[in-house]
Amino acid sequence: MSPALVLEVQTNRKEEEQVESHEYHEGVKQLCDRGLAKVPRKYILPASERPFISIKDGATNLKLPVIDLAQMQGPDRIHTLKSLSKACEEYGFFQLINHGIASESVLNMIQAARKFFELPFEERSKYMSKDQSAPVRYGTSFNQNKDSVFCWRDFLKLSCHPLSDVLPSWPSSPAELRQAVVNYSKETKSLYLILVKAILESLGLVETAKNIDENDSCDHLKEFEDGSQLIVANCYPSCPEPDLTLGMPPHSDYGFLTLLLPDEEVKGLQIQHEGKWVTVEPIPNSFVVNVGDHLEIFSNGRYRSVLHRVLVNPFKSRISIASLHSLPFNSMIRPSPKLINDANPGRYMDTDFASFIEYMASHEHKNKSFLESRRLTRQGHA
Ligand code: OGA
Ligand code: NI
Repeated sequence: MSPALVLEVQTNRKEEEQVESHEYHEGVKQLCDRGLAKVPRKYILPASERPFISIKDGATNLKLPVIDLAQMQGPDRIHTLKSLSKACEEYGFFQLINHGIASESVLNMIQAARKFFELPFEERSKYMSKDQSAPVRYGTSFNQNKDSVFCWRDFLKLSCHPLSDVLPSWPSSPAELRQAVVNYSKETKSLYLILVKAILESLGLVETAKNIDENDSCDHLKEFEDGSQLIVANCYPSCPEPDLTLGMPPHSDYGFLTLLLPDEEVKGLQIQHEGKWVTVEPIPNSFVVNVGDHLEIFSNGRYRSVLHRVLVNPFKSRISIASLHSLPFNSMIRPSPKLINDANPGRYMDTDFASFIEYMASHEHKNKSFLESRRLTRQGHA
């Protein structure tokens, strides 16, 4: 943007500065419901961090590797695991089709989230909390206590483990929300465990199961079964000036795997691939699955936790549901001992889960900075 244009944008924003700071903290939905013709300054990114929205949109669209779960659970398993490995190494992302979760469960979850964001602000605000460990948290931006520039996103975060402890704190309105999240969280957890097993197998950590229904005695899996799960419903209202802001800044997910249900109608997710930001094309009835920081560490850097961000849309609001899975909160996150040896030494420091959470609570997002700080550099080893 030319200096003259920057000045013009700033001058035009003068009237917006009437918006009080507490109003930003009430969320984007609330701000938009009051009527907004321009993006308030609080949401305007420095020019270098703004999304470049290409006119030839098609040029930056990306078809992620597609993994067919039905194929993986059948006679073609070995071949599918190779594709899975390649996807996790080269993209850190894949799209999962034939995942087996009933569409009713998915639709009920999306519907419940949609209704939650449509509740009067007074009802939603009951769940606002600054406490990052609260089992329910309604909020806005990325890290609203730290972000200097806010993101165009509101969220509802629900811890899902152990269910019986957290359920009573979940929103009681809309009436169908709790049941929808219980069903959805159980289904995504089972799907996650199937994927974890495939990932362990693809890393050579468990024998290729001849009979995948057989009760596996793998120690690793026990820990995963008891792992943490967080469901995040994201709401990105339509935005009058989508090229000035982002729904989510570039970030990596902290956990092991994220199962994301993107909005089927409204694109927005972009991943960094080969140095470029590329837009993910949603496939109906599929999940976008991505490698998180914990899996990057666990695989000793073989699988990559890749930066991604979210664009906002000028006409339509967008809803997405992310299910973040990892080890139990008291676990250490470290490279799997079976993957390291003299020839391939550990590349990351052992880190406890609490340090991840603490870091995220106390820093403005900055790309993959925490993961980078865990990286060990040795002589002769970059
Ligand atoms: C996330 C995320 C992407 C999206 O919730 O961590 O990256 O499309 N969401 O909403
Ligand atoms: Ni993410």
